[in-house]
Amino acid sequence: GMMDIGVVGMGVMGSNLAFNMADHGFQVAGWNRTPDMTEDAAKRNPPANFHPFYDLKEFIGSLKKPRRVFLMIAAGDPVDWAIGEIAPLLEAGDIILDGGNSFYEDTRRRHDALKEKNICYFGVGVSGGEKGARLGPAIMPGGDRAAYESVRPILEGIAARAGEEPCCTYIGEDGAGHYVKMVHNGIEYADMQLIAETYLILKHVGGLSNARIGEIFHAWNSGELRSYLIGITADIFAEVDEETGAALVDIIVDRAGQKGTGRWTSLEALARGVDLSMISAACNARVLSNLTEERAHAGAVMTAPEGAAVTVDADFIEAVRCSLYTAKIVAYAQGFSLYRAAKEEFGWSLDFGKIASIFRAGCIIQAEFLQRITDAYEKEPNLKNLMFDDFFLSSINGNAPSLRRTVCLAVERGVPIPAFSAAMQYIDAFRSPQLGANLIQAQRDYFGAHTFERVDKEGSFHHVWQEHYEK
Ligand code: 6PG
Repeated sequence: GMMDIGVVGMGVMGSNLAFNMADHGFQVAGWNRTPDMTEDAAKRNPPANFHPFYDLKEFIGSLKKPRRVFLMIAAGDPVDWAIGEIAPLLEAGDIILDGGNSFYEDTRRRHDALKEKNICYFGVGVSGGEKGARLGPAIMPGGDRAAYESVRPILEGIAARAGEEPCCTYIGEDGAGHYVKMVHNGIEYADMQLIAETYLILKHVGGLSNARIGEIFHAWNSGELRSYLIGITADIFAEVDEETGAALVDIIVDRAGQKGTGRWTSLEALARGVDLSMISAACNARVLSNLTEERAHAGAVMTAPEGAAVTVDADFIEAVRCSLYTAKIVAYAQGFSLYRAAKEEFGWSLDFGKIASIFRAGCIIQAEFLQRITDAYEKEPNLKNLMFDDFFLSSINGNAPSLRRTVCLAVERGVPIPAFSAAMQYIDAFRSPQLGANLIQAQRDYFGAHTFERVDKEGSFHHVWQEHYEK
């Protein structure tokens, strides 16, 4: 065969990725389970190096050896179906890459199963949406280190660039790439929720108009908050609905969807015993937003707080900005502490600084501030929590009063800010000399003889608790 790589799945993501590869000088074969999608892709003025195929055997036959097949299809059953069709047509040494949002446990299972046939399986996290796929996504490949060299020129060739560096690096073994992508999405949920809460604060505490809020986000995007999500948020507030002339954001129903990667991150955090309160808050906020009837009912029967007036001046807006920046740091501190736990649990060779550095461009959470995370891990690869890095620590200490004030203002006025609150709580819980766990231990020992440790001597102790009061 002549083709450098074959892309399976000619939907928007798959065809865009295939075109991106073709633009970078690779000969790319495209195939889809149903021919209509391939026909559509072939009609969308593809680069000359893109070659549509309508027969699976011909498609596989067109590939250079070792064959490289890149799946860009929906996660779940479709991936197992595709492997079932394609693997029998491959030989030892061939490579299958899965670029979808597959669950990392599925990737580990598929990796191990295909290894028995000497087929290398890569779980590849790809972030950046449709535009990213076409022009340069962030890419997180996980699988066998040695086989990576064979896909490296293509993946690093098509990835986004942060300066000169490609936003693609070998992440780790088997499911590591999809794991890192999953947590990326969890952080994405927290980032988006924080921005949504900032909007609520500016609107309902600050009483600001959509136009003003858009200007504020636009201004923030040239400072330390500079990021893709802040940038698109500024754009969103400037968009007008053609039919009604209203701000489009006001026409959109207040109900968020989700495809599940944020929930996976949250479940995974519970399983690993890592506090990802902000990501969980973001998931819960999306869930609650969907309780349309209950929300209408509660709005009618539950009393809203009064809340005194706030002076909305430059200081207020600056305090909100500092709050957002600080809460964002906490979200990343939480997300990266899950990477730390996963590295230990799965024995993956995760390099936290490198992960942050490939998030600098191409992906949805791309932000200037990620360089700071890379710097922190380069200084101290064993950093227990990002908050303890000198730069982040002084930023948190400097901005925590603003975060506290913003949270209090919103709570007093009954504006729901679960992610901001979770960030504040995380800082306070870490910092606080007492968490009340001594009382929890007493209760556990009282009702279940679960024992406790003492502050004054080694060992575990059980106490025979007295019933001082009638129950
Ligand atoms: C990305 C995104 C993408 C994800 C969407 C939708 O990195 O390009 O994370 O992979 O599918 O953001 O996710 P939800 O539907 O769960 O919001």
